Amino acid sequence: MINAVHKIEEVKKQVNEWKKQNLKVGLVPTMGYLHEGHKSLIDRAVKENDKVVVSVFLNPLQFGENEDLDKYPRDLERDLEVCEKAGANLVFNPEVLEMYPESSCSYVNVENLTKGLCGAKRPVHFRGVCTVLTKLFHIVSPDKAYFGEKDAQQLAVVKKMVKDLNFNLEIVGCPIIREEDGLAKSSRNIYLSKEERKAALILNKSLKKANSLMENGERNAAKLKEIIENEINSETLAKIDYIEIVDSENLEKLDKIEKTVLVAIAVYIGKTRLIDNFTFKLN
Ligand code: PAJ
Repeated sequence: MINAVHKIEEVKKQVNEWKKQNLKVGLVPTMGYLHEGHKSLIDRAVKENDKVVVSVFLNPLQFGENEDLDKYPRDLERDLEVCEKAGANLVFNPEVLEMYPESSCSYVNVENLTKGLCGAKRPVHFRGVCTVLTKLFHIVSPDKAYFGEKDAQQLAVVKKMVKDLNFNLEIVGCPIIREEDGLAKSSRNIYLSKEERKAALILNKSLKKANSLMENGERNAAKLKEIIENEINSETLAKIDYIEIVDSENLEKLDKIEKTVLVAIAVYIGKTRLIDNFTFKLN
């Protein structure tokens, strides 16, 4: 069975040996409780690199005070199995104090792109994400790092950070993996009751409706948002957090669909906040 490495120095030592042999290293950052979505990133990394590191670290810095850090699901044994089966070479699973010693007081902040969408309601979230990823990129020195389009804002923010701060790696975006009925896979789906699980289908359903209208020529963002809103509101267990149509790169709001846009939603199903999105490309 693949072992989890808990110390930064151990990871650096291993990666150094690989680099001396000129091997390409891929990194898949995760918070654990791995599912098919995570696995698709590992699969892609294994295909495109000689060695693959998966980090499993529930990063406290990216959770707000009233968020679900304490109840976030964990299962390291199963995570190790998933990583091994997918062909990963090293799992980095540090303790919180290994990543953030008490003296730690440096943070990475990406502005503008983090103001809207999930950043509006989660003010410390992306600072936490960017800080932990900066550390992981420095520890692992990957040639490529893999992220899901499921967290579209995160992907755009990380790409911008890497460009702005001249990180020497490529960010690879990977498609959203869904359950058979269309619900985007998420570690948080486990919070849903049976009834809520059914209600959660409204996210994908509403986006599909908008997508097909866009394919048929609808270009008015307000109209499209209203259609998504009405669809979601038809589900009594759903409460909208946001519905946004933005430029897929700089995440600025758009009135008209005239370039590649990201249609992103966040919806509470009961107490569980779920996100989903799609990107619409104009030919
Ligand atoms: P986590 O939620 O564990 O997700 C790890 C990676 O898996 C992210 O890049 C996410 O977009 C991707 N992912 C999750 N569900 C997916 C799905 N259904 N299809 C495709 N990819 C999916 O995102 C984080 O952790 C953290 O913020 C992290 C980047 C690790 C920093 O702490």
